[in-house]
Amino acid sequence: MGKVVLIGAGPGAADLITVRGARILAQADVVLYDALAGQELLDLCPNAIKVPVGKRHGQRSTAQAAINRLLVEYAQSHALVVRLKGGDPMLFGRADEELAALERAGIDVAVVPGITTAFAAAAATLQPLTKRGIARSVAFFTSSSAPELPDTTQLPDSDTLIQYMGGQKALQTAELLLAQGRPPELPVIIVENCSLPDQRIERLTLAGLTQGLSDRSGPVLVMIGAAFADRTAN
Ligand SMILES: C[S@@+](CC[C@H](N)C(=O)[O-])C[C@H]1O[C@@H](n2cnc3c(N)ncnc32)[C@H](O)[C@@H]1O
Repeated sequence: MGKVVLIGAGPGAADLITVRGARILAQADVVLYDALAGQELLDLCPNAIKVPVGKRHGQRSTAQAAINRLLVEYAQSHALVVRLKGGDPMLFGRADEELAALERAGIDVAVVPGITTAFAAAAATLQPLTKRGIARSVAFFTSSSAPELPDTTQLPDSDTLIQYMGGQKALQTAELLLAQGRPPELPVIIVENCSLPDQRIERLTLAGLTQGLSDRSGPVLVMIGAAFADRTAN
């Protein structure tokens, strides 16, 4: 029986994976990877069998049960199986389902943390998520939920809000926040393809966000809060 390691790949740039993550990846016999893992990251495991399991590889997100099954099957025939996940595996990564499946099958499992997109986006925009006297709480949230559950209309009331998987929900988020009394001029930053060569950073306000986001091809992180005021604007 082999071992499975869930490794956080970071936001996309190959050199943002941790040293531990890269070391274990290089030793892997099999790597199951998400759509966001680019060729440079896969080059870190030249000898591994590489199995694409991300949505953009034709799998639907509802195929999670199939991914769980593959992890168990590969671990039954290979010594070291890596599940390479975008950002940090423990945030919006369905790691609980994979861990549960492996634990049920009695397979040894470990997790290597990764840089979650929020931290990479803070670095890319040079905008800290907290700010003394202005922002002392941060919430990572998503409005997406399992297809069988209704979308939540409850938003966290932290000073800084970071919305994952928010591209299509951004308009609804902005309207809810305005209805809750957040000011229309509240700064918003949209980061698309964070850390990748086609990274795009757009600054707007909460009022501007009610117009929705124009067409995006890459993953998008929505950052909202007074901490994101543009320092260069004063
Ligand atoms: C399923 S969640 C995975 C989050 C991941 N576990 C993390 O810690 O960053 C996918 C969402 O993360 C965000 N995301 C991931 N990579 C990104 C990137 N390079 N640029 C912008 N947003 C990204 C987007 O909001 C995307 O819809």
